[in-house]
Amino acid sequence: MHNDVERVLLDEEAIRAGIDRVAEEVTTAFEGMDFTVVSILKGSCIFASDLIRRIPIPLELAFVSASSYGDGTEAGKLKVNFLPAGNEIEGRNILLVDDILDTGRTMHTLKDEFTSRGAAIVKSCVFLDKPSRRAVEFNADFRAFEVEDLFVVGFGLDFAGRYRNLPYVGVLQPEAQERVARSAEEARIAQSASA
Ligand code: IMP
Ligand code: MG
Repeated sequence: MHNDVERVLLDEEAIRAGIDRVAEEVTTAFEGMDFTVVSILKGSCIFASDLIRRIPIPLELAFVSASSYGDGTEAGKLKVNFLPAGNEIEGRNILLVDDILDTGRTMHTLKDEFTSRGAAIVKSCVFLDKPSRRAVEFNADFRAFEVEDLFVVGFGLDFAGRYRNLPYVGVLQPEAQERVARSAEEARIAQSASA
């Protein structure tokens, strides 16, 4: 798996320092409040679990799933699942956590969803921010790193479902990206043939 990575953008030490900083900012912002951290699956699970362990104030944890990507790198439609029940949203202070803010559609949609279901405060925290890719206006309240317009994998971020378990953030070799895309496409075809 490591051989498929062409270049490491953020190593483990840099990631630790970035999460330490953002955790402090979140702690200061929510000090004295009850709040719920909502981790957006699947990509933010690694970041969210590191983040909350560095926030030394009471919080609750919830998950939603929002997939805007199919097996490739092009944005598709957004599907939202596992929304917390009404009584877990109404009047609650929410911190939405995602792996990367790209076009902004995921965060924009989820912020609207939580606000319209009666959340008191909805703030957002992202591991990576790619401001150059924004399609809808959205600024994260907290972000660990800004990255340039490159497709990145690792630390929760996937390509066709793979590479989430890389402990760093990197860019794939073009050859690896083609190989994984090809095998995902083959699996899709095999599945639709047997359905
Ligand atoms: P948005 O709705 O376009 O902001 O997309 C956010 C989602 O797109 C993220 O949660 C990721 O799942 C996916 N995504 C965007 N850019 C990348 C990338 O560079 N690598 C892996 N996934 C990405
Ligand atoms: Mg993804």
